[in-house]
Amino acid sequence: MQLARTLETLRKTVATLKSDGGTLALVPTMGALHEGHMALVARAHEVADHVAASIFVNPTQFGEGEDLDAYPRPEAEDCAKLDAAGCDLLWMPLPSEVYPQGFSTTVRVEGVSGGLCGDARPGHFDGVATVVAKLFNQVMPDVALFGEKDYQQLAVIRRMACDLDFSLDIVGVPTVREADGLALSSRNAYLSDDQRQRAAALPKALSEAADTIIAGGDVGVTLDTAIAKLEAAGFTPVDYVELRDADSLVPVTRLERPARLLAAARIGRTRLIDNIAVVPV
Ligand code: PAJ
Repeated sequence: MQLARTLETLRKTVATLKSDGGTLALVPTMGALHEGHMALVARAHEVADHVAASIFVNPTQFGEGEDLDAYPRPEAEDCAKLDAAGCDLLWMPLPSEVYPQGFSTTVRVEGVSGGLCGDARPGHFDGVATVVAKLFNQVMPDVALFGEKDYQQLAVIRRMACDLDFSLDIVGVPTVREADGLALSSRNAYLSDDQRQRAAALPKALSEAADTIIAGGDVGVTLDTAIAKLEAAGFTPVDYVELRDADSLVPVTRLERPARLLAAARIGRTRLIDNIAVVPV
């Protein structure tokens, strides 16, 4: 696996990789890699000839009081995992290569960035859209892969890629979960044993609510029941449990086409998110 830390090295390495006429996939990450990230790398091998990953803990998507400084950075382990997974290239830019002095541009995706996590984390999706636009221009992949775990992020990136004519495919990859249903996340490491056990209530409440809505249950009542279950399990506050259109993310009150049930809730100081498909039968 080639490691690039400057744009100059990156461009040379990408040109060499692409010189055989093969396609290149990009898996953007912030590191602290787990099986969820590695599922994106595995899928990348299926959809492209060459696979690049990026690791960059992007400061502009962290709000004040969020965990930017505490964010785990196990660089050697991450490199070893990507190498073992057959990654061809790791782009691990120096911060100055991403945000040079005088950097003044922000990519803001209206609509899908609003509501849900956009409310609790103002500016977060601007930071994500801006850094992902830069990563696309830096690596120039033919396809980029993102997890459905961060469903609103995936919707923001799809919208941006379409609006700004990025010439690449965006592939969404299903969420990888623990045996009890909890979605893998680097933030799960912040949970105590007791909180970790209680956290399984999040995927459980979502899956029960999805079943109820598919069976014809009232959407508003079902969402309230899910919130009550999360509160009973010790989540406080529950930021949201909402049913949205699967593509546009506009709120849905009756299930008529594919929808997504999304939730965010705090347990102790850790904010967990999850989502599940709700498809009419
Ligand atoms: P990060 O949180 O490191 O996640 C990198 C990618 O892994 C994202 O596409 C995310 O959705 C995916 N992912 C995380 N947990 C997953 C799971 N349990 N199952 C499947 N996929 C999972 O998301 C980011 O980084 C950043 O916002 C980034 C897009 C890199 C921009 O800075």
